[in-house]
Amino acid sequence: DKSGYKHFMAKEIFEQPTVLADALRAYLSPEGIHLGADAGLAGVQRITMVACGTAFYACLTAKYWFERLARVPVEVDIASEFRYREPPIPEGTLAIFVSQSGETADTLAALRYCKGRAASILSVVNVAESSIARESDVALPIHAGAEIGVASTKAFTCQLNVLYLLALETARLRGEIDAEGISERLDALRSLPGLFNATLERDDRIADAALALSEARDVLFLGRGLMYPLALEGALKLKEISYIHAEAYASGELKHGPIALIDKTVPVVVMAPRDGLFDKTVSNMQEVIARGGQVLLITDAEGAREADGETWRTIVLPDVPEDLAPMLYALPAQLLAYHAAVAKGTDVDQPRNLAKSVTVE
Ligand code: F6R
Repeated sequence: DKSGYKHFMAKEIFEQPTVLADALRAYLSPEGIHLGADAGLAGVQRITMVACGTAFYACLTAKYWFERLARVPVEVDIASEFRYREPPIPEGTLAIFVSQSGETADTLAALRYCKGRAASILSVVNVAESSIARESDVALPIHAGAEIGVASTKAFTCQLNVLYLLALETARLRGEIDAEGISERLDALRSLPGLFNATLERDDRIADAALALSEARDVLFLGRGLMYPLALEGALKLKEISYIHAEAYASGELKHGPIALIDKTVPVVVMAPRDGLFDKTVSNMQEVIARGGQVLLITDAEGAREADGETWRTIVLPDVPEDLAPMLYALPAQLLAYHAAVAKGTDVDQPRNLAKSVTVE
């Protein structure tokens, strides 16, 4: 049931405020975070995260959170690389597997490799009865509800939600954040569904930008820090449903090669809330503009003011606490891909050559 939307993907993007609010209710009480199981976070010395595709980008985002908030070193790997590399797993490693379907063959094989090697195996899944959930010591559901569109949308934001809660809980157990710091961050998280709604109200403006993007052959996405994994996710989303070639780079890597691609035919999507790294991103943006590149800047009101007049287009999102920006900025990334695909007339919910659950290796 598409609830009146033209595509499941649109429905699943637009239900994110409610879905996230429900997911938060499942894990939060007035006293704090309830994971419902001992995930082995207290004694963790390092974390290895393994996943594929969009779930891999959720892990890359979580690395920033775990390292910054909980001060635990994190490695992130693509399941198909991890399993065949057969990496050593140091003592005290918590292995985390993230999968919407819980059936991705490479992720499951990576999990099996970690059995008996990692101190504890935790999975973050949407399908609670899945193989990956069953074979983990602890499986945390993301509570996204059934995701029908092949392109992952609400599962991504709900994966980020659970991973953020895990990072906060780890930080609390290790004494890196005090009770007040935790409760401030949980309040911020509780306000996120409202910010999701305010962001979805910008849909017309995002659709307008997407229409312009849909004429491009190649698109670049740039981001720094927490916005870098999101740039990767934005590029993946665009290519998988609109078939427009898209690549993402960490903004600081631009001058090490990809800047050679810039001309007026290659739009550059820059994801940059006004955070501590904004000035650096603006200077990368100016390098793009100086070479005739067309910048679509996704930022907040202050960022838009500072970049004033220089961009091709600007999409202004509500202010959001820095930690949570990847979750909020995921929405315009999804909408850009969605509207570009609709403009091109592709099969949004069933893109060519793709399956919802990749159970072959
Ligand atoms: C992209 C997408 C895929 C999946 C990947 C992993 O929109 O949906 O990249 O994220 O195939 O799937 P799961 O999460 O089921 O392991």
